[in-house]
Amino acid sequence: MAQVSSNLEVTSIQGEIFISAKDISCLYKKGNNSVVALNAVSCQLHSGDRIAVVGPSGSGKSTLLQVMGGIEPPTSGTITWPALGPRHALRPEKIGFIFQTESLLEPLNCIENVKIPLLLSHVGEEEADEAAFNALKKLSLENLANKLPEELSGGQAQRVAAARAIVRQPKVILADEPTGQLDQTTGQHLLDLLLASIEGTDTALVIATHDMTVARRMKTVWYMEHGRLEVRQHC
Ligand SMILES: Nc1ncnc2c1ncn2[C@@H]1O[C@H](COP(=O)(O)OP(=O)(O)OP(=O)(O)O)[C@@H](O)[C@H]1O
Ligand SMILES: [Mg+2]
Repeated sequence: MAQVSSNLEVTSIQGEIFISAKDISCLYKKGNNSVVALNAVSCQLHSGDRIAVVGPSGSGKSTLLQVMGGIEPPTSGTITWPALGPRHALRPEKIGFIFQTESLLEPLNCIENVKIPLLLSHVGEEEADEAAFNALKKLSLENLANKLPEELSGGQAQRVAAARAIVRQPKVILADEPTGQLDQTTGQHLLDLLLASIEGTDTALVIATHDMTVARRMKTVWYMEHGRLEVRQHC
């Protein structure tokens, strides 16, 4: 976030700290072997941040997002959510997550899938219906409301999952390759709509991506390699 002060100097102002990671490591054991998915990563996410996480396949991007979202506990190090509260209160209210792999529930149609975060937060059925329809509409998906996941293309399913992530108007959106299954035009359009849905709010957006045209539209790029967060570049 930047602000022009009275003497016309541009000063950098960092908002509230939503997520703070200190020296986090994540070790996965596979039989006798172990994989270091994250290696002593420290980072902070502030209100209003727009961050792209890039790096080769297997560098730890998804693991980092999962730890930031409280889905995966780190093997060592500390992760806290200073302005969001304890881990158990994060989802779905505070953090919306778009998973890299298919995540829609099969027996439910699209609007029912998008309603899940609202029903988990005990929002009434009618209000939830309206909010879910509006979230689908924001992403130009209202025509899919009554379709089942099996009737969708991979890209459509990914966009419905994005609607589910924004429906609760979370403080943080963690999006793991949300444009990975989309063509360039549709991917850029989804990004436009995601950014528009949080414009004027203090919601922070973190996108893991292999697409540099997506990364370049974020304010900051985090580059990962071999489980390390190597570079933080401000665009
Ligand atoms: N549940 C798991 N069990 C075992 N190993 C895992 C698990 N999840 C991730 N890994 C390993 O941890 C490393 C980091 O994986 P991660 O999925 O975070 O990478 P990534 O950067 O998101 O890759 P991609 O760009 O392909 O999505 C990889 O070596 C992967 O094989
Ligand atoms: Mg990944």
